Amino acid sequence: GIPGYVKIVEVGPRDGLQNEKNMVPTAVKIELIHRLVSSGLPVVEATSFVSPKWVPQLADAKDVMAGIQKMEGARLPVLTPNLKGFEAAVAAGAKEVAVFASASESFSKSNINCSIKESLERFQAVVHAARNLSIPVRGYVSCVVGCPVEGSIPPSNVAYVAKELYDMGCFEISLGDTIGVGTPGSVVPMLEAVMAVVPVEKLAVHFHDTYGQSLSNILVSLQMGISIVDSSVAGLGGCPYAKGASGNVATEDVVYMLNGLGVKTNVDLGKLMSAGEFICKHLGRISGSKTTIALSRI
Ligand code: HMG
Ligand code: MG
Repeated sequence: GIPGYVKIVEVGPRDGLQNEKNMVPTAVKIELIHRLVSSGLPVVEATSFVSPKWVPQLADAKDVMAGIQKMEGARLPVLTPNLKGFEAAVAAGAKEVAVFASASESFSKSNINCSIKESLERFQAVVHAARNLSIPVRGYVSCVVGCPVEGSIPPSNVAYVAKELYDMGCFEISLGDTIGVGTPGSVVPMLEAVMAVVPVEKLAVHFHDTYGQSLSNILVSLQMGISIVDSSVAGLGGCPYAKGASGNVATEDVVYMLNGLGVKTNVDLGKLMSAGEFICKHLGRISGSKTTIALSRI
């Protein structure tokens, strides 16, 4: 059956904003994170310690971290692609990090400029350094059902990368449909392959809504025992190295569905929606959450 509690990992301030062309002021990012934490979300991914040449929007990672040091009530992980990023994150006060691999060779090259094998070696170094500091490391696998260059990705490739990350010590593995092409038809066999090698309670799902399939994909994942879901407030986002990919599934819509299923999240939907309205107003954009649009009409 469906789990009684789902941990939502809010990725809006990172995955949601990384693709925005106009620089979002650091103070707005900090206020957004504050509002998201206040809504009851247990995990809010705050930023990335990546090359500012690759992701200019997150070049202020250090300043964002300075502004959230005193925030309580949520874990505030950051992305770190290599040791350089890890060291900068720790110096800035990060207490949890995430590494990000891909199930597609082409995407690995275009996103982090190295092969899958090379990336796993880098992540091994990050995990090792993190262990010495008791810093938990999350592992992402991207392109779990499809790649912008290679097309469909075999489930066995995803299982291989997920197991490598798990075996090296990542405490949780997030399976990302980076370009949002998956349907329950492709997601179920992918999850079956991964669940054969990584315990289901360690797995998270991360859907982008390009084809409007996210909620269906989340529902089948829950039915298979997954209890960790990544999402982005107001459905913000896209990946700078995955052309055409739209935002993550909107957190508000995930919470609305989970409320309807009687699944606990501890998130206050009203406060969450106002966090979404805050950032949409700043970006001058209509919310990507259907729940927000529906409820603001009533
Ligand atoms: P590279 O150019 O191969 O790196 O980039 P390099 O080691 O050759 O170094 C080149 C320059 O970058 C040097 O500086 C380094 O110091 C610097 P220079 O001498 O030219 O002035 N550098 C760094 N600077 C800051 N922070 C660092 C860092 N490392 C090196 N950590 C690199 C390799 C991995 C750095 C680059 O490709 C990169 O930053 N990629 C990140 C791209 C990214 O953030 N993509 C989006 C996130 S992943 C995603 O969205 C998927 C996910 O959401 C799940 C899903 O949806 O499926 C997670
Ligand atoms: Mg993503």
